[in-house]
Amino acid sequence: MTDTHILFQPVEFDNLSLKNRIVMAPMTRSFSPGNVPGEDVAAYYRRRAEGEVGLILTEGVSTNETTATGTPNVPNIVTDAAKAGWKKVVEGVHEAGGKIGIQLWHEGPFRNPKNTSHPDVPSWSASGVKTADKQLWNPMSESEIETAITEFVDAAVAAKDLGFDAVEFHGAHSYLIDSFFWDQTNLRDDKWGGDWTGRTRFAAEIIRRTREQVGADYPLIIRLSQWKQQDFNAKTAKNPQEMEQWLTPLVKAGIDIIHMSQRRFWEPTFEGSPLNDAGWAKKLTGKPAISVGSVGLSGEFTAAYAGESSEPASLDRLIEMMEREEFDLIAVGRALLQDPDWALKIRESRQDELKTFTKDALGTLY
Ligand SMILES: Cc1cc2nc3c(=O)[nH]c(=O)nc-3n(C[C@H](O)[C@H](O)[C@H](O)COP(=O)(O)O)c2cc1C
Repeated sequence: MTDTHILFQPVEFDNLSLKNRIVMAPMTRSFSPGNVPGEDVAAYYRRRAEGEVGLILTEGVSTNETTATGTPNVPNIVTDAAKAGWKKVVEGVHEAGGKIGIQLWHEGPFRNPKNTSHPDVPSWSASGVKTADKQLWNPMSESEIETAITEFVDAAVAAKDLGFDAVEFHGAHSYLIDSFFWDQTNLRDDKWGGDWTGRTRFAAEIIRRTREQVGADYPLIIRLSQWKQQDFNAKTAKNPQEMEQWLTPLVKAGIDIIHMSQRRFWEPTFEGSPLNDAGWAKKLTGKPAISVGSVGLSGEFTAAYAGESSEPASLDRLIEMMEREEFDLIAVGRALLQDPDWALKIRESRQDELKTFTKDALGTLY
């Protein structure tokens, strides 16, 4: 049987100490009517803390009530009621001995106004959205960019005040921040576009201004992905040199931990090296890195939305990569959605009790 003890080694970063290497991946649950996380959401996160997850990352949380959100029943961190709900979530996780970071999410071009209570408010993104015959939404104006940055900073400050142990900016999966990074969706020729300095400026400003507000000791994480929702094979950075130009401005702005989202954690990023995205992020920046993608399961997550089940799978490859110190933390999504005690079962070698992931887990908040 695989020796998994490396997963349960405590770790101390400059401003964050964790009891083990297992992170709960951020997963949208849409169980927050009125955009307020309730008692059931608090109990759901608490169960994962009781199940020995080292760091819980919340579902994506909206940074405003209009442009940021196009998915029903997604919580925000803007209203007093939502903040009160999050306070209970944080207290529950802490009582259970866990740690919790909040993922701040602006859906940007993937927001469908028709699904929202503000159907007339256009969606935001670096260069707007065009269909074959018409410009659907315009590129963001300077003042909209300023507003979006301020909203991220305010949300991060609110999260710190509520007792969250860290903030993660959602800079992945084609949403607002990612629309600035990728040269296919950022066609701007002003200071917010063009070269890597321009395309990373939006994220770097969010990080820099947040850092000024929260101080040096507060952990800031950014989630990034090479892949896009509209193109799983996309690569924001085509080679290590580009990846360095992508990540360095974020590190200089004050990011502490880099979370590289992959659909399958073992896939190498560039030819000629076995390193995955998190491996490269750690190598190029020296910062701690989180990896993710199909840990402990036979199939990948986008297929889960189409109803595909996944069987428990071996952790051998993950353990090998972690023993080589390619990355520091591993995020686990569906396995923890299916089973709050997943980490505990791995630690106690209760492999025969691991569960198959089925689509039913998407529809319940256990
Ligand atoms: C139901 C569901 C909701 C998700 N919502 C988010 C989200 O809000 N933010 C995010 O960055 N990723 C989100 N993801 C992606 C996960 O964080 C994770 O990267 C992905 O599920 C791969 O991990 P897994 O193979 O262990 O499930 C979601 C995934 C699932 C299955």
